[in-house]
Amino acid sequence: LRVGVLISGRGSNLQALIDACADPEFPAEIVLVLSNKADAYGLERARLAGVTGQVVSHRDFPDKPSFEAAMDGALAAAGVELVCLAGFMRLLTAEFVERWRDRMINIHPSLLPSFKGLDTHARALAAGVRFTGCTVHYVRPAMDEGPIIIQAAVPVLADDDDHALADRVLVAEHRCYPLALRLIAEGRVRVEGERATVMGPAAL
Ligand code: GRF
Repeated sequence: LRVGVLISGRGSNLQALIDACADPEFPAEIVLVLSNKADAYGLERARLAGVTGQVVSHRDFPDKPSFEAAMDGALAAAGVELVCLAGFMRLLTAEFVERWRDRMINIHPSLLPSFKGLDTHARALAAGVRFTGCTVHYVRPAMDEGPIIIQAAVPVLADDDDHALADRVLVAEHRCYPLALRLIAEGRVRVEGERATVMGPAAL
């Protein structure tokens, strides 16, 4: 499966996907990393791994559709079959999302549908939940909505601040995203409307 990864920054989830794809048995390969930020450290990770990285900056385009058309062109030119959003910080138009319907996934650092959007860990702490976690899901036009592929639960500890909690959730993210990609690449995820079903074992 030919995968394109969209990033805006650090790229630790990208790194987890790169590491998984380095195994010759892994059924997917990253053929393109697109960043809307030229200084994203994830681009350096791509370079170090020998993966093609490309900057498509939203600042270089007059509007969102033309920015997205440039990304779409790059993804098509690379023969991308599945898009992974990995810390990509621009909201996508419904048109772009629909063009990649059931072929674009995202990772979010909460147990969706709780805590959509930004500052998830601070809000989880403020809410007093005892567990949070991460979710890999198919992308729908509404932010952080869409069929759930896998989730992992992570405990909230009494003395956590948002950084400590984010670090603990990130460890789970780095396990979940490659697993979700593998399940899709193996043809083991079926999407029907707003629900995804994983067939066969999917142990973390
Ligand atoms: C991760 O927590 C991811 O869940 C969220 O943004 C963060 C990106 O981190 N969408 P990184 O760039 O993958 O290190």
